Amino acid sequence: MTSSDAPLLDVRALQIRYGAVNAVRDASLTVRKGELVAVIGNNGAGKSSILRGICGLVKPVAGKVIFSGLESTSMPAHQHVARGLVMVPEGRLIFADQSVEDNLILGAYTRWRKARPESLAAIERAYTLFPRLKERRHQQAGSLSGGEQQMLAIARGLNSNPKLLMIDELSLGLAPKIVEQLLEVLQTLNRQGLSILLVEQLAAYALGIAQRAYVVANGVIAKEGKATELANDPEVMAAFLGKKHE
Ligand SMILES: Nc1ncnc2c1ncn2[C@@H]1O[C@H](COP(=O)(O)OP(=O)(O)OP(=O)(O)O)[C@@H](O)[C@H]1O
Ligand SMILES: [Mg+2]
Repeated sequence: MTSSDAPLLDVRALQIRYGAVNAVRDASLTVRKGELVAVIGNNGAGKSSILRGICGLVKPVAGKVIFSGLESTSMPAHQHVARGLVMVPEGRLIFADQSVEDNLILGAYTRWRKARPESLAAIERAYTLFPRLKERRHQQAGSLSGGEQQMLAIARGLNSNPKLLMIDELSLGLAPKIVEQLLEVLQTLNRQGLSILLVEQLAAYALGIAQRAYVVANGVIAKEGKATELANDPEVMAAFLGKKHE
């Protein structure tokens, strides 16, 4: 394999444990430059743990994470962000008592110190992508609706200038119409060249926009393939595709 063929993210035989809990037993996955890849799986399957292992929030007990050509398995989380590996965490984790704009400035922090004009441009780009955030720029982030908070969490992630944006449970607690709007934004970003890894319990949503997908069950990758094929796979259908919003 030549270096230009190498995936942007290459996760090999990852294992994550919390004490006696074997949350991830064997997970290998790749994201190529420009791809939108989904990771689907039921509650407790190990999806968030895989993401935490990738971005250095938990230390894997075994396996490798290679990002952008460099083994980065034991790098601390802030170094991953500086190298362009950015996660929007499950539950969004915005700063509720700060304004929308201050949250965006914090997202641009790594560049803010060095390149203030670029950071300001990044914030303007976020407002173009999500005009609603511009309308609410001086409002406390905690007073936003769930959908607006997810917009803010995504915009904040984008302000870190990612090469790969990983999003954990985009749809959590959101109405279907809002989820569909957010998926459209992700699709637009992907068409503009951003690589995305989307983790989603509601598989139909994720498979609707992804090119490829992985199915996680009990801490292992149970299936992988083209998103359109998995969406028509009777086993996957039976396990997940009844699910959009219960
Ligand atoms: N901090 C922790 N300490 C102990 N066990 C944990 C911890 N975090 C997760 N687990 C366990 O690890 C397993 C995988 O959890 P994980 O959160 O990765 O799953 P998930 O697929 O993201 O689930 P969900 O769809 O509910 O977000 C579960 O059995 C969970 O209970
Ligand atoms: Mg999770």
